[in-house]
Amino acid sequence: MSGGCPYFEKKYLLFKSKLHLNEEEADDSQKGINEASKGGIIYGDYLQLDKVVTAQVLQSELKGNKIHDEHLFIVTHQAYELWFKQILWELDSVREIFISGHVRDERNMLKVNTRIHRIVMIFRLLVDQFSVLETMTALDFYDFREYLSPASGFQSLQFRLLENKIGVPDNLRVPYNRRHYRDNFKGHESEMLLSSEKEPCLLKLVEKWLERTPGLEGNGFNFWKKLEANIFEGLCLEKKKIVKMPDSEEKEEMMEELTKQKELFTSLFDIKRHEHLLSKGERRISYKALQGALMIYFYREEPRFQVPFQLLSNLMDIDTLMTKWRYNHVCMVHRMIGSKAGTGGSSGYHYLRSTVSDRYKVFVDLFNLATFLIPRHWVPKLDPNEHTFLFTAEYCDSSYCSSEDSD
Ligand code: HEM
Repeated sequence: MSGGCPYFEKKYLLFKSKLHLNEEEADDSQKGINEASKGGIIYGDYLQLDKVVTAQVLQSELKGNKIHDEHLFIVTHQAYELWFKQILWELDSVREIFISGHVRDERNMLKVNTRIHRIVMIFRLLVDQFSVLETMTALDFYDFREYLSPASGFQSLQFRLLENKIGVPDNLRVPYNRRHYRDNFKGHESEMLLSSEKEPCLLKLVEKWLERTPGLEGNGFNFWKKLEANIFEGLCLEKKKIVKMPDSEEKEEMMEELTKQKELFTSLFDIKRHEHLLSKGERRISYKALQGALMIYFYREEPRFQVPFQLLSNLMDIDTLMTKWRYNHVCMVHRMIGSKAGTGGSSGYHYLRSTVSDRYKVFVDLFNLATFLIPRHWVPKLDPNEHTFLFTAEYCDSSYCSSEDSD
C-alpha cells in the first residue's frame, strides 16, 4: 500500500519523524545517573527523618485509647517549634551582625534586612497555620486533652527565647498565676532564658544603630534642630492664615486643631517628656534613636535610607504578626476549651487575652512615628553637600562580612 500512494508515504514519514522525536523526548526524561548508587548521603539520612517522622508519640495510644486527631495536634506543635527554631537562627545571625559591628559597613544592611524579612514571612505562615489545627473540633480535642496534662505551650522554651531576643521586656509581661514565666523552666533551660534576658535584644541593637543615623550630628546636617525650626515656623504660618479668616465655627475648629498640633510637637522636642514616657514603658528607644528613626522615615526615598526604611517596616511587621499570632491562638483556645483553665495551670482564655496588647509590642516607637507626620515642604531640605555626605559609605573595609560569611 505504501508503494502505491506517495501522499500517504509522505504523511507516514512525517508521522514517523514525529514519533521518533517523542521517543527522543521520552528518552530525555529518563536521562541521568542514580547518584545515590555512588554512595554519599541520601535524603532520609541528610534530614534525619528517622528521628523526625518517628517523633509523634500519641499519649492516647500509649494509654490504650488511640485518638485520631492527637497526631495532628502533635505535628502542628512540632511544625511551629521547627519554625521557631528557624526564626531564632535568623534572629541570632542578625544580632551577631549588629553586635560584631559589621553593621557599620552599610553593605551588610541588605543581609540584615533580608533575614528580618524572612522572619516576617515565617510569621505570616505561623499566623495562618492555626487554621489547620482548627479542623479539629472541641469535642475531638476533649477526647485526648486529659492525656497531655500538664504539658502546655507555656513551657515552650523557644517561644520565650524568641520573645526575649526580639525585646519583650520582662517588667511588662502579664504574670501567670502571679508567677514569673521563668518558674516553668529548670536547669539549663532556665539559664538560657536568663542569659537571653541579659544579652542585647534586637530592639536595643536597632536602637544603637538608629542613634548613628547619618545627618543627626549637631555639627553636621543637624536634622533635629532644623526639623524643630521648620515645624514651628510652619505652625506659625498656619496660625497667621487662620487668624486672617473671618470668625466662624470652622475657624475655631482649625485653631483648636492647631493648638493640639503645637502641643504634640512641643512634647516631641521635649527630652524630659521623652524620658518620662520611657520610664512608663510607653516609649522604648532613646531620644537620639527616635530622631534617627524619624529621619529615616522622612528621607526614605534617599538611596542611603531605602534599606533602613525597609528594615523599620519589617520590624513593625514582626510586631503586628506576633500580635496576630497571639490573637489567632487565643481565638482557637476559646473555641477549643471555652473558659476552662489551661493544662499549664493558667486561667486559659482570660490569661491569653490579656497578652494581646501593646505591652507586648516591641517596636512601639516605630508605629508612633506616624503621629509626627508633617507636610513634605516642612521636611528640612538636603543641600548638595549633605546629599554627597548621605550617599557616601561611612565606613568600608575588608571585614565586610559577606566575604567571610559564605551563606
Ligand atoms: C487546641 C490547641 C491549643 C490549645 C487549647 C492551647 C491552649 C493554651 C493555653 C490554655 C495556654 C495558656 C497556658 C496554660 O495554662 O496552659 C497556652 C499557651 C501557649 N500556647 Fe497554646 N494551645 C493550643 C495550641 C497551641 C499551638 C499550636 C501552639 C504552637 C506552638 C501553642 C503555643 C502556645 C504558647 C507559646 C503559649 C504561651 C503563650 C503566652 O504565655 O503568651 N499553642 N495555650
